[in-house]
Amino acid sequence: MIQGKKAGEKRVLPGQKSAELFLLRNRYIPRGVFQIAPIFIEKGCGALVEDVDRNQYIDFCAGIAALNIGHCNSEVISAIKEQVDKHLHVCFHALMYESHVELAKKLTEITPGDFSKQVLLTNSGAEAVENAVKISRRYTGRHGIIAFEYAFHGRTALAMGLTSQVKYYKYGFGPFDSGVQRFPYPYYYRAPFNTTESDYAKYCIERIESSFRTYSPAEEIAAIIVEPVLGEGGYVVPPQEFLTGLRKICDDYKILLIADEIQSGMGRTGKMWAINHFDVTPDILLSAKSLGGGLVLSATIGKKDIMDTVDIGGIGGTFGGNPLSCVAALKTLEVIEKNKLVDRAANLGQIVKGRLNALKEECEIVGDVRGLGSMIGLELVKNRSTKEPAPEETGEIRRKCYEHGLIIMSCGVYHNVIRIMYPLTIKEDELEIGLGILENAIREVNAA
Ligand SMILES: Cc1ncc(COP(=O)(O)O)c(C=O)c1O
Repeated sequence: MIQGKKAGEKRVLPGQKSAELFLLRNRYIPRGVFQIAPIFIEKGCGALVEDVDRNQYIDFCAGIAALNIGHCNSEVISAIKEQVDKHLHVCFHALMYESHVELAKKLTEITPGDFSKQVLLTNSGAEAVENAVKISRRYTGRHGIIAFEYAFHGRTALAMGLTSQVKYYKYGFGPFDSGVQRFPYPYYYRAPFNTTESDYAKYCIERIESSFRTYSPAEEIAAIIVEPVLGEGGYVVPPQEFLTGLRKICDDYKILLIADEIQSGMGRTGKMWAINHFDVTPDILLSAKSLGGGLVLSATIGKKDIMDTVDIGGIGGTFGGNPLSCVAALKTLEVIEKNKLVDRAANLGQIVKGRLNALKEECEIVGDVRGLGSMIGLELVKNRSTKEPAPEETGEIRRKCYEHGLIIMSCGVYHNVIRIMYPLTIKEDELEIGLGILENAIREVNAA
């Protein structure tokens, strides 16, 4: 029984217990670890969360797209509990266990590419990114890595160099990896000149090709790393020509294509992997976040001949692909398949996009509604014609959502994109309440 406020009801934040814990947080946790709200969770179930003051929330954030199957899926919990009674940790380098190889096999089967693959299991998304770079360099014998504007690939030293957003992911942390070169990503809504989507994508591709004449030769480039749909950069879907163009450059110049599906994968976009929408096959695909069903796990999945070039001992780690995470991931994949969550992502996304497009007609502040499946972004602007970003208004909308029991996050280089990433298991009435809270918050801020 909810003793505090139900989702939809206004509450004062933080509640008393959260406020007390927040004092401890401020005392013992560095401020660099950002928070979007001063709330401490007590428990979660599906798309619902209860805080320590017994207030209920609908979760449109899902641990930053890491809970596509929702909070505390009962089948995943049972698989974890069963494993807890057997063994917790041995380190795959010391003793092997079945779930690790079973998961690797499964991942080779469900990723694009009709060729032999191998899988490296690690812990965080950034670790998968770092390993993809290491493996690409070892395989090609080249050092250059092409990444894009607006990209986010993680916070560790090398991954941070691939990440584009300066404040606050990179600010004061340089120097970065000297092999990284950056090119424009076709973020059409913010194209700097008048063009079509398709021509803008072709321009971005041409910029890379011409750099082989003016900047550094293609023979020095090991890999291109790309998010098939931009995550932290603003939930931007590139035109088809962009990903097809990248594949062609990679084929022409023997460069590897790495698809970072850490945020966009695991069914979120209405296909298992976002790159499936474009019918492009990467040489290496990265997964993390929702892969572990709530536990830490990441995977670097690549062509066998690429993955197998690394010398013995060159990749791995103490906890990578630990037994709990592996059984959780195997069960997570089963839950996704059994409940047809990939189709559900597509269907729910259509409903949500319809509602948000209608809101765009009504509210001047909504500049753009975009996305694939249930990976949907809402870009907020102060003025539709100048497209001046509206970060303060975005923060105000977020605050109002929290006060009415909706957990929501923003993203984008201008901090003005509301991103929607509810669990794909969300019940329709929960989705309805959540959307209602969001629409009301946007209407209120639009009218102010
Ligand atoms: C596309 C993408 N790549 C890499 C990462 C880094 O993942 P992690 O935070 O698990 O290191 C993220 C995290 O948000 C991401 O969205």
